[in-house]
Amino acid sequence: MANQADLIIGLQWGDEGKGKIVDHMAQTHDYVCRFAGGHNAGHTIVIGDQTYALHLIPSGVLNSSAVNVVGNGVVLSPKDFIEEMEQFDDLEGRLFISDKAHLLLPYHALIDQARERMKGDKAIGTTGKGIGPAYGDKVTRVGHRVGELLDPPKLAAKITTYFEMYRGIFEVMGVELPTEAELVEELSGYKAVLAPYITDTTLLVWDALDSGKKILLEGAQGTMLDIDHGTYPYVTSSTTVSAGAASGLGIAPRDIGRVTGIAKAYCTRVGNGPFPSEDHGEAGQRLRDNGHEYGTTTGRPRRCGWFDAVAARHAVRINGVDQIALMKLDVLDGFEEIKVCVAYEVDGRRIDYVPYDLEEATPVYETFPGWDTTRGIQSFDALPQTAREYITALEEMVGAKMGIISTSPKREDTIVRKE
Ligand code: IMP
Repeated sequence: MANQADLIIGLQWGDEGKGKIVDHMAQTHDYVCRFAGGHNAGHTIVIGDQTYALHLIPSGVLNSSAVNVVGNGVVLSPKDFIEEMEQFDDLEGRLFISDKAHLLLPYHALIDQARERMKGDKAIGTTGKGIGPAYGDKVTRVGHRVGELLDPPKLAAKITTYFEMYRGIFEVMGVELPTEAELVEELSGYKAVLAPYITDTTLLVWDALDSGKKILLEGAQGTMLDIDHGTYPYVTSSTTVSAGAASGLGIAPRDIGRVTGIAKAYCTRVGNGPFPSEDHGEAGQRLRDNGHEYGTTTGRPRRCGWFDAVAARHAVRINGVDQIALMKLDVLDGFEEIKVCVAYEVDGRRIDYVPYDLEEATPVYETFPGWDTTRGIQSFDALPQTAREYITALEEMVGAKMGIISTSPKREDTIVRKE
């Protein structure tokens, strides 16, 4: 069998706890590759008394022998990326950025924020980092790629022409633009730091696959935020599902092997848009408090609610999930009853799939008995019976085995079930 890469993908609205699993798996992989999104993503990894904030640098950076790849499907803000790099002092030779990744420049963030303001109560609730405008420029074919950073005067002239085309829009949005000279200076600063890392990462990943290296593909955000398959327009601007790993790195679909989908034992969402199983009452607040559900990138409180088995089943099918890592089971500790959204009702009709407009759907719940504590438990058999029953019921509903179960933020509090 040809060598295939392992893939980690979020099955909900992001923030599923991918960081813990990716960090864990990064220790045993030779390559860790990001393929989509930008610095809108984020997780914190604590090692000893050191805390690292990762947004775009792959999690393999914390394994000194792993090679880290930022693929062509990513939008990269040089300014933020350089700040993130400053946490580490030994990156040369183990961090590579695709020359085909797209640049996210400061004016993209200003446009993002201005658009959100103009949308008023229709705002998406973006992270304000400029993700949408950067991907927008890419598909409109007026974007700028990372490889162009190697020639700052040429790139600055190109960006200035772009500014001319869109000057009216920039003025309406109140976005302040740099002059060409200022741009040359800014881009030259980026080049000075980033040039040693910029390369054709497609060739690099092909070589790694062909020479039998263990490769981990690190997804960002979650399935329900996918530009095509999520709750459009309340989504991010990239392909967050597993298919995006192929185009976002330049590999074939058959280069992808085992897919691990990450889901929390309940659901959260940041930003606006439909979330049928959201709980606006006491239970939602309790989930937020127990789970410390506040955004890593923006600090915003996350909306909280019950596990949505319909959305999870949709995500299992779209991503070709082989096993699920069920995260934060302990956050449900102490609840007398636990609800699961098992179907939706739309126009008085019960459906068991994700409809075109999820805004119209109300949840149909099944209630499960709760349990006392699962915190820190490290084997499936040691879990309370009601917790085991909850997990088994979810497996049947979503159509995938829960091969990994996390019972605390600690690395060791992870149940890995036998195949
Ligand atoms: P954008 O990606 O900044 O354009 O934001 C679009 C939507 O995706 C908003 O609802 C954000 O809150 C959400 N989003 C983006 N990145 C993440 C993430 O890493 N976790 C959770 N939600 C995210």
